Amino acid sequence: MGKAEKSNGRGNGKTNRRQPLESLQQPVVVCGGAGFLGAHLCARLLEEGERVICVDNFCTSAVEAINGLLAHPRFELLHRDVSLLDEEEIAHASVIYNLACAASPLHYQRSPLDTLFASVRGMDKVLRIARARGARVFQASTSEIYGHPTIHPQTEKYWGYVNTIGPRACYDEGKRCAETLCFIYREEYGVPVRIARIFNTYGPGMRLKDGRVVVNFIVQALADQPITVYGDGTQTRSFCYVDDLIEGVLRLMSLTHDLDGPVNLGNPAEITVLELAERIVRLTGSRSKIVLQPLPKDDPPRRRPDISLAQKLLAWQPSTTLESGLNMTILDVDRRLQRGDETLVASASSAAKSRLAGANAL
Ligand SMILES: NC(=O)c1ccc[n+]([C@@H]2O[C@H](COP(=O)([O-])OP(=O)(O)OC[C@H]3O[C@@H](n4cnc5c(N)ncnc54)[C@H](O)[C@@H]3O)[C@@H](O)[C@H]2O)c1
Repeated sequence: MGKAEKSNGRGNGKTNRRQPLESLQQPVVVCGGAGFLGAHLCARLLEEGERVICVDNFCTSAVEAINGLLAHPRFELLHRDVSLLDEEEIAHASVIYNLACAASPLHYQRSPLDTLFASVRGMDKVLRIARARGARVFQASTSEIYGHPTIHPQTEKYWGYVNTIGPRACYDEGKRCAETLCFIYREEYGVPVRIARIFNTYGPGMRLKDGRVVVNFIVQALADQPITVYGDGTQTRSFCYVDDLIEGVLRLMSLTHDLDGPVNLGNPAEITVLELAERIVRLTGSRSKIVLQPLPKDDPPRRRPDISLAQKLLAWQPSTTLESGLNMTILDVDRRLQRGDETLVASASSAAKSRLAGANAL
């Protein structure tokens, strides 16, 4: 039994599927690689010729989500909790992307300690390994570190306004601490880190039942069921299509010069949640009515990224309109509902197809 097949805590190795690797090419590691963004990132990295090791404990995803990637000769899966990752398992890794953390409030509030530790212990483990191996680290941070923002739109210079003891604190504070860990390892040990503060991202492959607003609305609209809007629907969000986001992440990681702070990645086009619901009803031709439900505690009232820094550093900005991104997501959700499956990204080629053709936690 190889090292990666040994039983190891929560990542017990039972569904481990190590694939024979095609070459001795230095691997790129994607922690949380079976999740919504992670699966898209793995698919894109494979398309670009990288050798990819996906590390995931499947706490919010399933191995079926990456079925199409498992057969790829340059793809390898380690069923592991990121905080239990063994340095030897990803020996020679040149780059580590850390996306391992539940992103939907429905999931992260279910196991708040796991959520907090995924960010804190997981980040520490990734940075320790990067320090030992001389690897570059990407951290998937979040707009949630801005909390209830007192400035609008949010720039990277804004420190945030976050409740340390509310229901979202396990996620928000975990992500804030992960940024601090990145900063310490960079300052103390020279570990090259890239932090993206990701704003709401959506697209094909989002799980149908994990409570993110875009998919929730689409599923309800396709079934002509009432669309549940929390609060009065005037809270705003800015929705970025997944392919645009992944492009921004790759550009951030390809920067060769040092970076001394996080970079916002998201789409600055702002929309109220009520407008989003109405848009989805129209695009699906649904007969659904919109119903208002009480607003959950600490639900952020406004979200819109200032992406000037990303535009300047990366020559990046989203190019997919909300209408076109929603249409592609509606097609994907409809197809999966018809098939009765929850599959995320089927394969690298289907990810490419969806890009050619054309949820995101509240
Ligand atoms: N999707 C968004 O809109 C968004 C916005 C801001 C930030 N982010 C961040 O991007 C990352 C990916 O988000 P997503 O939407 O793909 O979420 P997701 O829940 O779909 O994916 C997270 C993945 O990480 C895995 N995971 C969680 N804890 C783990 C652990 N301890 N060890 C190993 N694997 C673990 C899960 O099983 C899952 O496969 C997260 O870190 C999230 O905080 C996402």
